[in-house]
Amino acid sequence: MGKLAITGGKPVRTKPFAPWPLYDRKEERAIQQVLKSRNWGGYPFPNAHGSAFAHRFAEFHRAKYGVAVANGTVAIEVALKAVGLQAGDKVIVPAYTWEGTVGPVLQLNAIPVFVDIDPATYCLDTGLIEKAITNKTRVILPVHLAMNFADLDAIGRLARQHHLLVIEDCAHAHGGMWKKKGAGATGDMGCFSFQSSKLMTAGEGGAVITSKLEFLERAQSYVNCGRASETDKFANRLIGFNYRMTEFQAAILEVQLGRLAGQASVRQRNMEYFEKRITGTPGLALLKRDRRITRVAAYQYVFKFLPQHFEGIGRAAFLGALEKEGVPCDGLFYEPVYKSALFPVKAAEYPALSWGRENPIDLRSLYNCPVSERAAYEESVWLPHHIFLGSRKDVDDIADGVLKVCENFEELRGLEHPAIETKQMSRAERPRVEKRQY
Ligand SMILES: Cc1ncc(COP(=O)(O)O)c(C=O)c1O
Repeated sequence: MGKLAITGGKPVRTKPFAPWPLYDRKEERAIQQVLKSRNWGGYPFPNAHGSAFAHRFAEFHRAKYGVAVANGTVAIEVALKAVGLQAGDKVIVPAYTWEGTVGPVLQLNAIPVFVDIDPATYCLDTGLIEKAITNKTRVILPVHLAMNFADLDAIGRLARQHHLLVIEDCAHAHGGMWKKKGAGATGDMGCFSFQSSKLMTAGEGGAVITSKLEFLERAQSYVNCGRASETDKFANRLIGFNYRMTEFQAAILEVQLGRLAGQASVRQRNMEYFEKRITGTPGLALLKRDRRITRVAAYQYVFKFLPQHFEGIGRAAFLGALEKEGVPCDGLFYEPVYKSALFPVKAAEYPALSWGRENPIDLRSLYNCPVSERAAYEESVWLPHHIFLGSRKDVDDIADGVLKVCENFEELRGLEHPAIETKQMSRAERPRVEKRQY
């Protein structure tokens, strides 16, 4: 019997952390009110709560306009369509992100171009973007994750120089601020997800924000089956779909938005304390904090596990042991999208991949992004945001768990355990074992 819980010792913590999502009487009342109104759907569009929420959400991020949509994946599709992406255009995306950032590009018969991430922030490496730009490039699509922002100053400069549009994937960045401007408001459009795990949620849902009326109008039309937008100043007509959000979701999100700033400061304070506790631990490294981030959006606390220090003991063993100490954690949270089983690109389904060439572009073999691969398969440790919404004692438990596993890692040598196996599973494989997946 060892010291670690995974080898039979006493776990650091047995008590669950704060549940997620949080709700109270306000959400209950909001749902009841919609129920009784019998005005449940997103149509007429934008409907009462959908419109009020979208407006407040945009304003909160310092953008002029917002549209509430069905989820974060379609938010990206809507934004790409709203800025006028054409079939065959190219979109620069980070390799290290959720597949939902990239799928919509293909869905619109455009071509994603993967660029590696910055090892200091895990966001798009802006030093590599210029090399990836061609005369077909139309959009740069940075993803803000790991409590960080992609460098929006550098991206803005490149976009102006090469006449490109910028769409920010802010699925991890609700309420985050870059130089006092909200996530999604520096680029041409910002896209958000309200899926269950996110910093605000209605179970599912999404939003796009922008300060350009023409983009708002195209977004509204696309989401509402091609109908005219509210203002219809540009009178753009396009084939649209029903991507509307229900009034139930919008009413819940109005309440959740009211809690966001308070929760953000609790999380930030707790994560900073956690960081202090683990700083300097041999075998661990922290990501960079950029001073231009004036409010942190902390969807997950992410740090680095340095495998060379642990001499042959891999990240999955570290994570399995940490989970058994009572700390929820993840490693294979994202894979480089081009390698993921959730990205089985069939060229026949996406004709632009073959245009003007004898053999289609093979997105799965074309790329090698070493920083993304290292982050995905060896290095990154992801801790969910809700465990940082509690007391200082909760944070001490998280830090104690991490330090205990680091101090006793030799107990993990050669160990086989179901908790370790689970931590080796990709997001595609996990539904087989997960009781509840966000
Ligand atoms: C970075 C990123 N982009 C896009 C999405 C897509 O959002 P949704 O799950 O609401 O479709 C997600 C959500 O998981 C995400 O994490």
